[in-house]
Amino acid sequence: MTESVSKGAPVAVVTGAAGGMGEAISRRLHRDGFRVLVTDVDEAAGHRLAEDLSPDGTTSDFRRLDVSRKPDFEAALEHLRDAWGEPTVLVNNAALTRAADTMTLDAEEFLGVLSVNSGSVFFGCQVFGVAMAEQGHGRIINMASLAGENGGTATGAHYATSKGGIITLTKVFARQLAASGVTVNAISPGPHDLPVVHDTVPEDKLAAVVSSIPVGRLGDASFIADTVSLFAQENAGFVTGACWDINGGLYLR
Ligand SMILES: NC(=O)c1ccc[n+]([C@@H]2O[C@H](COP(=O)([O-])OP(=O)(O)OC[C@H]3O[C@@H](n4cnc5c(N)ncnc54)[C@H](O)[C@@H]3O)[C@@H](O)[C@H]2O)c1
Repeated sequence: MTESVSKGAPVAVVTGAAGGMGEAISRRLHRDGFRVLVTDVDEAAGHRLAEDLSPDGTTSDFRRLDVSRKPDFEAALEHLRDAWGEPTVLVNNAALTRAADTMTLDAEEFLGVLSVNSGSVFFGCQVFGVAMAEQGHGRIINMASLAGENGGTATGAHYATSKGGIITLTKVFARQLAASGVTVNAISPGPHDLPVVHDTVPEDKLAAVVSSIPVGRLGDASFIADTVSLFAQENAGFVTGACWDINGGLYLR
C-alpha cells in the first residue's frame, strides 16, 4: 500500500488485475501515482487488492469487468467518468491461458479462447481508445505472449492464435490512434514464475521449458510491471505499435 497517490491523480484501468501479472502491474502503477481501477471477474481477489492499495477507496477501487463483454468496458468507462474522471492508461491484461492437443482441440473451445483473448483487446482499444482520443492523450498496453510469435510451446493453438491476434490488433489501433496522442503497445512475455505457468504446464514439461530458456530461468512479473510503467509515462509518446519481447532469449527477432 502507498500513501503517495493524490485524489486528482491520473487514472489507470487494469483488466485481469486480481492476481499474477495484473496484480504486479496494478501495484506498480499505483506506486507511480495513478489511481488504479482494479478489474477482473474474480471479485474476491480483486476487492482484496484494491482495498490493500487504498483502504478508503480514494486511489484504488475494484469493479467487475468481464473482458468478453464490450458493454462491461463501456460501463467501466461511464463509472470512471462519474467517479474519478477520464482514464489515461488502459492495460489489457486479462486472458484465458489454455493448453490443448492441436489435432483434437474442439472447435468451440478454440473459438472461445480466441474470442475472449483477442476480443477483449479489440473492445478495450475501441471503447477506451475513443475516450482517450477525445482527450488527446492516452496509453494502452496490451499483454500478448511469446506464443503469439513462435506458435507456442506449452500452450494450445487457441491461446497462441489469440496472442498473435493481439500483436496485430496493437498495430491496427496504434496506427488508428497515433495522431490523437494515444499510443498502443504490446508486451510479449515468455514463461514467468507465476501460478498460471505452474498450473498449466506439468512439472516435468516445465523443467524442460526452463532448461530451454537461454538465460536459464523463468521471468519475474515485477519487470513486466516496470515495462508497463515505462509505456504509461507521458514522455513515452514516440513509441507506438511496438511489441517488446521479455522472454529470456527464447525468441530472437
Ligand atoms: N504468466 C506468464 O508466464 C505469461 C506469459 C506470456 C503471456 N502472459 C500473459 O500475461 C497476462 C497475465 O498473465 P497471468 O500469468 O497473470 O495470468 P493469470 O491467469 O494468473 O491471470 C489472468 C487474470 O485474468 C482474469 N480473467 C480471466 N478471464 C477473464 C474475463 N473474461 N474477464 C476479466 N478477467 C478475466 C483472471 O481471473 C485472472 O485474474 C495474460 O494476458 C497472459 O496471457 C503471461
